[in-house]
Amino acid sequence: MTAQVDAPADPRSRADGLGWVTRAVFPDRRVALTVRGPAPTGHRTVARYAVVPSLARARFLVPLGAPRAGAATLLAYNALRPPKVRAVRATIGGLARLGPVGLAPFPTLTVSVPGGVPVAELLLTERLASALGGTPLLAAFGVRPPDPNHKPTLQLFDSDGRPRGYAKIGWNDATRALVTAEAAALRALPAVAGAADHPVSPGLLTELAWADQVVAVIEPLPSAVRGVPVDDPPRIAAQLAVARRGGPGTPPRPLTGSAFLARLTTQARRSAASGAAGDRAVAAVQALARRHGDVEVEFGHWHGDWVPWNLGEHAGRLVAWDWEHSGPDVPVGFDLAHDAFQRALVLRGDPAVVAAGAVDAYVDRYGDRLGLGPAQRRLVADGYLVEMWLRTWRLADAGAGWNPALHPALLDVIEKRHSG
Ligand SMILES: Nc1ncnc2c1ncn2[C@@H]1O[C@H](COP(=O)(O)OP(=O)(O)O)[C@@H](O)[C@H]1O
Ligand SMILES: [Mg+2]
Repeated sequence: MTAQVDAPADPRSRADGLGWVTRAVFPDRRVALTVRGPAPTGHRTVARYAVVPSLARARFLVPLGAPRAGAATLLAYNALRPPKVRAVRATIGGLARLGPVGLAPFPTLTVSVPGGVPVAELLLTERLASALGGTPLLAAFGVRPPDPNHKPTLQLFDSDGRPRGYAKIGWNDATRALVTAEAAALRALPAVAGAADHPVSPGLLTELAWADQVVAVIEPLPSAVRGVPVDDPPRIAAQLAVARRGGPGTPPRPLTGSAFLARLTTQARRSAASGAAGDRAVAAVQALARRHGDVEVEFGHWHGDWVPWNLGEHAGRLVAWDWEHSGPDVPVGFDLAHDAFQRALVLRGDPAVVAAGAVDAYVDRYGDRLGLGPAQRRLVADGYLVEMWLRTWRLADAGAGWNPALHPALLDVIEKRHSG
């Protein structure tokens, strides 16, 4: 094995996405990660992965050792993916079916542990397998560029290729908060998800704290789930059912004195304490209260990231996932506003000012179906934009960095609207 001489170092020392993901999944340095070579002497190999397509451009780590599971990690949920990604995954999934031979062209990552230390102490995948019932599980992980706002995720499968769970790893303040919030939201959902028009959602299987991380394991999506087309009309009845938690609505109440305004005020003050932009947020919340304080609006719950790419259809029901930003006490209509804003920003690449215009257009067009009159529509649009800037700040403040599409552009947009 002379190739050992130039074998690359531990991938956890890399600055790229592969480094970031392997540090998150294998934080314990007693676990050895060896690329292309065997496990160090005295270590026991516990898992092997194909690094696809190469170390330098790694996109997926595919578990070796159980071809049906390896293929499933690439083929499951492919209908949710964009056509190009789907084609690549289908090809590599076909190779994975052939077992290690099929994946032989790709570098192999060997995971090994020293003798005498219980594996469950060292390996997240072992902890998850025991939390999910004790049968061995294979994990696949996607590699994305390092981003303080992203969570590494593990897809967990049985050795026969049956999906067992989807694990999200919160590894810094920003992502730990998101994972915790999603777990809390999913825990509360079964009580309401049976109601008419309410979307169904994969449930929470388990949540655990592990090596400074928060890990939520979510039930697998049904394998036949299909994504909602990105240009579909908004699902108003479903948004309303989420807002009302499957029950009747609550009577409208003025913005002044609401828990919502109190929360925005508190968060804006906090943002002011942490940087100059926050002063502008405090002024924006005050202007919101001045302009809309007397407006009476229905308050309710929201999904918090209601966009077509977090929605699917299965067995005639709408399926919603990604509940990380969900919460109570917002004006009914916020999910509609977010749907409009994000489709413009993300799908069409519009600047914040155009995306804000898309919010106005959506609330004007669909607001009556949510019981919103003209004054409520203005409150929903203006309030949502302030909420969105505060979310941007919260993520930045928790270490995720500023979203350049939203800061400072969104504050400029808000100020301009308030001065109009
Ligand atoms: N429970 C699940 N089972 C299988 N795949 C899932 C599950 N949840 C999410 N996914 C897939 O992973 C993608 C990202 O997950 P999501 O919850 O939307 O997180 P993010 O915050 O990264 O957008 C989804 O769009 C979906 O394709
Ligand atoms: Mg998502």
